[in-house]
Amino acid sequence: MPKALSLPPNPFSMLNSMRAIGYSFPTAVADIVDNSIAAGATRIDIRTSVSKHEEIYFAVLDNGCGMCEDELILAMQIGSRSPECSRSRKDLGRFGLGLKTASLSQCRTLTVISFKESSVSAASWNLNLIENTSDWSLEIFDEKEIKHQTLLEELKKNGSGTAVIWEDFDRLGAVEKDKLFDVLKEKLQDTREHLSLVFHRFLSQEDKFSPITISINGNPLIPKDPFLKSDDIGSVFTGTILFPIKGIKECVRVTSYTLPPQDKMTAQHQKKLGVAGRGLQEDQGFYIYRERRLIFWGGWFGLKPIEQSSKLSRVQVDIPNLFDKLWQLDVKKSSAIPPKEIRQELKKRLEEFIKRSKIAQTSASGTVFKKEELWLKQKKGNEFFVRINFESALLKKIFENTDLDNAKRLKHYLKRLQKALPIDWITAQYATDYCPEKDSEKDVLEMEIFDQIILLSSRKGYREEDIIGKIKELYGADKLTEEVKSFISLFVKAK
Ligand SMILES: Nc1ncnc2c1ncn2[C@@H]1O[C@H](COP(=O)(O)OP(=O)(O)O)[C@@H](O)[C@H]1O
Ligand SMILES: [Mg+2]
Repeated sequence: MPKALSLPPNPFSMLNSMRAIGYSFPTAVADIVDNSIAAGATRIDIRTSVSKHEEIYFAVLDNGCGMCEDELILAMQIGSRSPECSRSRKDLGRFGLGLKTASLSQCRTLTVISFKESSVSAASWNLNLIENTSDWSLEIFDEKEIKHQTLLEELKKNGSGTAVIWEDFDRLGAVEKDKLFDVLKEKLQDTREHLSLVFHRFLSQEDKFSPITISINGNPLIPKDPFLKSDDIGSVFTGTILFPIKGIKECVRVTSYTLPPQDKMTAQHQKKLGVAGRGLQEDQGFYIYRERRLIFWGGWFGLKPIEQSSKLSRVQVDIPNLFDKLWQLDVKKSSAIPPKEIRQELKKRLEEFIKRSKIAQTSASGTVFKKEELWLKQKKGNEFFVRINFESALLKKIFENTDLDNAKRLKHYLKRLQKALPIDWITAQYATDYCPEKDSEKDVLEMEIFDQIILLSSRKGYREEDIIGKIKELYGADKLTEEVKSFISLFVKAK
């Protein structure tokens, strides 16, 4: 029988190789924030030295559950938890590596201070010490020996929590303190952008989840929703599909959105959507969320190329952490590949996902469809008004084709309807847990087809067969139901 020889890795070479795993500063910080969220933190404060005269440090402070000394020592171990371990749904961890590899990819000293059940624990990995001792020498500190006493005081004030501190930066491309301070400041800006996007669903109220606060040197992050869901020009929601996976209870949830045409977006909207240096075009495609944390976005997994016509399409894909293995989640949690059966399902639905973008693009160029404001929203002093837009082309078209008496009746009815809008009741429901019923995908599409017919019917030289042809081209022959056909002939007759 062969002998088993214990051959542990050389600590310094091993850690040095792990530093080169390819984290950027913002993705490394995101891994530390993941841990705080998994620890149940509701407030995460990112701190750095605020003047060039201080010693340079970077810290992530949370009010999560904290760790006692045994837990901290285990947390500091490389590969502290196997990827095979099952994880709770709120756990954003994966390999038991993030805390160490993300931190040491940016700096030479990682210190963790934690406060739990009135006890303080602190430990450091220091690359210089590991190099000198050629051993996995973890430094453990007494409370008095902790350098960052002010951070410790804050943890104590919160009742429990953890501070992850990075020092001795050697990978930021600067050595002198002054320069390093400036580089760190720049990195903080990129980090702000990255975290606002990656954690946008944690930063806002979502279903039963209360929002958490993440701030950088006292400035809270503003969530960056890549679908502009809560904006008044919001994207069109185009439906949710659930993909069950054989033998597993959880589902993959796929929700598709179409952004409003670019000419309708303000600079503010564009800023919200744009992720450092990438435009709308590159950011089309799938947005993969693992337990609500965005891990990867942009592109169509090679199922189709990035194209101008589909640049308004964004598809939210929610995967539970149970599927990590199936999706080949990488260590940095920055890429994932869907399993074959999901790829096949997604492929089948690609046309459905991008169709609306194509339509909106045509509309943006004025060729076919211009989405209209049916309500006018106005503010005057402290008051606001919501009025039916009597100038909308749809309404005008209806009035044009109605006799005078009926037009008067209709106008009166619409004015009454406007006045009777139960705004108090709606506001009261929003203040509770009730939310408005969402139109089904079918209803939304049907409404859009009818709008389209009304507008097409007012085009010069457009006959019944032209409208039928256009509807077929835009929405597919299966959408040309008897009801749609009779709607078309009604409006052509009225022309
Ligand atoms: N901020 C924190 N609060 C409480 N526990 C933490 C914190 N950060 C890390 N830990 C503990 O350290 C362990 C190791 O973290 P990490 O190296 O990032 O691996 P993973 O997150 O994949 O488990 C976590 O599983 C958790 O138990
Ligand atoms: Mg982690």
